[in-house]
Amino acid sequence: MEKIIVLGATGNIGQAVLQHLQDSNVEVFAGVRKEADFDKVNRYNATPILVDFTDQESLDKALKGKDRVFLVTPLMQNPEAVTEKVLQSAQKNNVKHIVRSTAAGADSNGQIQMARWAGNSEDLIKASSLNFTILRPYNFVQNYINYYGQTIKDYNGFYIPNGDAELSLLDVSDLGEIAAIALTSEEHYGKTYELSGLKYSNDKIANIISDTLGRKISYIDVPEDQARESMLENQMPEWLVDAMMELNYIIKQGWSAGYGEDYKNITGKEYTSAETYFERNKDALL
Ligand SMILES: NC(=O)c1ccc[n+]([C@@H]2O[C@H](COP(=O)([O-])OP(=O)(O)OC[C@H]3O[C@@H](n4cnc5c(N)ncnc54)[C@H](OP(=O)(O)O)[C@@H]3O)[C@@H](O)[C@H]2O)c1
Repeated sequence: MEKIIVLGATGNIGQAVLQHLQDSNVEVFAGVRKEADFDKVNRYNATPILVDFTDQESLDKALKGKDRVFLVTPLMQNPEAVTEKVLQSAQKNNVKHIVRSTAAGADSNGQIQMARWAGNSEDLIKASSLNFTILRPYNFVQNYINYYGQTIKDYNGFYIPNGDAELSLLDVSDLGEIAAIALTSEEHYGKTYELSGLKYSNDKIANIISDTLGRKISYIDVPEDQARESMLENQMPEWLVDAMMELNYIIKQGWSAGYGEDYKNITGKEYTSAETYFERNKDALL
């Protein structure tokens, strides 16, 4: 039976990958930073292994004997350093395939920082000797719970500087599904998949959440300087605020609204809609 290790396993994407690997005929391991979080992966029948992205030795040990690796890095200043360490360990251990989740618009010469971070990691992977599959997700519909959920609960609204643009919203579960398919086949070697989700305006999302919860939820299009100030007030580091504001600019221009056909081509299904996502997860906003 093949052995697969998921790195970044306790996060949004990592847990979605573990969930979709559960029914596959593979042995699944999960790289976890803290022993206290082992429960988060045990529930998907994955065997936890302590991994710290900054510690090459822990990666070397974790990847020993594994056939394939899934990697996602958190929002951080140097994700390419982690990608490089993981590639080193993978090559040392004869891992044959890496599936890497990056981001839509990945481009090492890109105009915004998020694109360059993602592009730099992709370049390293493409230059390595490993078989690879790259997944480029657009915006997560989960952001409305993870990032805006508190103001939806407290003030019946979410505050973002996106104007009236449409943006594509992906359920992370759809990403996990494609990752699990790629990790259990050789058909997806050398491929890069654009995973967009479906397109919505923020007003439309506010209406969908309102209908789901049975109370009025509003989208408030805040000015950029107000959004920046509020992120800084919430202790977000400046480098991250800068990157988020660049991303918000892209979204406001409507450049983050696309449709990637790869999900449909691979699964034969349409992306999970925002209506379905909020219905399934409404308890988090009550
Ligand atoms: N949000 C969006 O709309 C969106 C859209 C496209 C792309 N993305 C990209 O998606 C990525 C974030 O994915 P996510 O939402 O799954 O992130 P996440 O929920 O923050 O999870 C990050 C994972 O990395 C682990 N991790 C962090 N530092 C580590 C370290 N030093 N050693 C070992 N593990 C470590 C975390 O472990 P702990 O649990 O211990 O912290 C966690 O398992 C980012 O690169 C972002 O650019 C996001």
